[in-house]
Amino acid sequence: MNGLVGKTALVTGASRGIGRATALALGRAGAQVLVHYSSNEAAADSVVAEIIAAGGQAQKIAADLRAADGPHSLARRVRAIVGGRLDVLVANAGIAHAASLEDTTVENFDDLFAVNVRAPFFLVQQLMPMLCKGSSVVLLSSLAARASVGELAAYAATKGAVDTLVLHLAAALGERGVRVNAVAPGVVATDMSSFATTEAGRDYTLSLQALKRVAQPDDIASAVTFLASDNANWITGDTLRVDGGSKL
Ligand SMILES: NC(=O)c1ccc[n+]([C@@H]2O[C@H](COP(=O)([O-])OP(=O)(O)OC[C@H]3O[C@@H](n4cnc5c(N)ncnc54)[C@H](OP(=O)(O)O)[C@@H]3O)[C@@H](O)[C@H]2O)c1
Repeated sequence: MNGLVGKTALVTGASRGIGRATALALGRAGAQVLVHYSSNEAAADSVVAEIIAAGGQAQKIAADLRAADGPHSLARRVRAIVGGRLDVLVANAGIAHAASLEDTTVENFDDLFAVNVRAPFFLVQQLMPMLCKGSSVVLLSSLAARASVGELAAYAATKGAVDTLVLHLAAALGERGVRVNAVAPGVVATDMSSFATTEAGRDYTLSLQALKRVAQPDDIASAVTFLASDNANWITGDTLRVDGGSKL
């Protein structure tokens, strides 16, 4: 697939997991990829090197998206690198915190909303001048937004907020020809869901799903790449379940 040749893409949280797989997939599709990370510079370097080794273009870019001005400084640096136009924004960076209602602290709750909701909102706001006709924004929702899985109430609420943002951002940006969607994975084998690598975690995961294997980051990246491409040019304001048929 080379449907993104000549396009520019920013993937937040691209050093690991789903973001890493998405950055590599967008690079293979021909996009110039900005590989965002927070603290794991070596991991971001290896993603950039892999894209370049495959003949693509990539650059790393750091920002702490828990900080109130993180999205603003990231957007300024994106503008400085790619100029006036950003074709694809994948707001993927996220954190999770499993805790019972009793054990969830105000700090946990605020951190989750800062990284998972406030950052994508202000990143879109700050990048709006660079988003043009044909640009695509993809956010990361979760199965947790529509089903009670694990002890994830605060995290799940952030993903419910993402689903709501998708509707409002798509409505606000539609007139400019910018599409906004989300993908909602179930359990994916990444650092965030490392329990899925244990036998008990794997059994639990498979018990949720119609398809009986543990999802890998590439399973999600291919759906994000589809939504980012012109093949999805009539899809906006939607959250696409990419979860192997979880909790049907
Ligand atoms: N894995 C799942 O089962 C699953 C299921 C549903 C939805 N999701 C969603 O998919 C997205 C990616 O998840 P993942 O499993 O790939 O996560 P992951 O492997 O834990 O990777 C998280 C990424 O986010 C970045 N990040 C973390 N805190 C940050 C901060 N304060 N500022 C900026 N970047 C930060 C990390 O950067 P560093 O490497 O620099 O730390 C890393 O690149 C998240 O939004 C998550 O909620 C995941």
